Amino acid sequence: MSMMERVREKARSNVKSIVFPEGDEPRTVKAAAILAAEGLAVPILLGNEERIHKTAAEAGADISGIAIVDPADSPKAQTYAEALFELRKSKGLDLKGAEELTADPMYYGIMMVKMGDADGLVSGAVHTTGDMLRPALQIIKTKPGIKIVSSSFLMDCPNKEIGDDGLLVYADCVVMPNPTAEELAQIAVSAADTAKNLCGVKEPRVALLSFSTKGSAKHELVDKVQKAAAIAHEMAPELLLDGELQFDAAIVPEIGASKAKGSPVAGRANVLVFPDLQAGNIAYKITQRLGGAEAFAVLQGLAKPCNDLSRGCSVEDIVNTAVLTAVQAAGSGET
Ligand code: ACO
Repeated sequence: MSMMERVREKARSNVKSIVFPEGDEPRTVKAAAILAAEGLAVPILLGNEERIHKTAAEAGADISGIAIVDPADSPKAQTYAEALFELRKSKGLDLKGAEELTADPMYYGIMMVKMGDADGLVSGAVHTTGDMLRPALQIIKTKPGIKIVSSSFLMDCPNKEIGDDGLLVYADCVVMPNPTAEELAQIAVSAADTAKNLCGVKEPRVALLSFSTKGSAKHELVDKVQKAAAIAHEMAPELLLDGELQFDAAIVPEIGASKAKGSPVAGRANVLVFPDLQAGNIAYKITQRLGGAEAFAVLQGLAKPCNDLSRGCSVEDIVNTAVLTAVQAAGSGET
């Protein structure tokens, strides 16, 4: 069974509600119909009801029975605006500003999750990553004990010899452009959590990557990764984690054995932590495009799950992201 098949099984066993702020977008409407028909989640579409029904009819999607909420005409809008005002007044937001924001489906959807009226949110078929991340960071905030939100890419590789039966978890490829050592340590701990609780990896083995293995090169960039590994050890002493390691030393057993003898993870890492967003984002795209891996992204560290899509996403991508979000919400996966 593939990683995504396992996740789908989990989603079916504990069905969660997922709100889609881009409720009148054709791929989203089709995905919602599939999620409902297959019992994977309870979708909620945000937007103008007439427009959503027209989109569904044109797309040939059966959305009968799926909840539609129009933020511009919702009885909960004022409650959400007042709650948003309370949350953000210290940042200079006034009630009128909160009312205006709440009329925006993105903010309305985030408020639904915040207020417990939806279990998770999926967006990004139209909006940019930043458009979705900013309100999530401002309103949902981080879960207890975690200071930063980051991301993991779940890379399902054709070579089943590497990682966890072909699964490699890459972090961070979406959020933190240039993490400090402390932030990198948080990313490592969150990624291990995602591997274990969302993907079902029994033994996360975390490698903090660099262009150096165990002091083979001296540079301040290497120092940052070494410091991050030390902090992550303190944060999660039970975790199998090592750094700094080069990519080959992390995943090729013979190279790991020769370059990092005695390391608990070298040669068999399944969670790879990149030193910054440029490295992480480039690496996942190379693995996907040249390595033939399937790539699935999730945000981690948020108090409640919200996930981003690529604007080029397919209907299947939206279904998969919603399923991952539902499993994060079910708590078998921490976010
Ligand atoms: N974790 C937790 N909170 C955060 C984080 C974080 N990683 N980053 C920002 N915040 C908080 C801030 O503290 C602030 O909170 P406050 O308003 O309550 O004080 C709030 O979020 C907004 O912070 P800003 O500094 O105004 O937001 P910023 O402009 O830095 O944007 C963002 C944050 C959107 C995450 C930014 O770092 C970013 O654009 N990252 C890259 C996104 C991207 O383009 N990724 C690559 C493409 S995606 C792909 O290829 C799949």
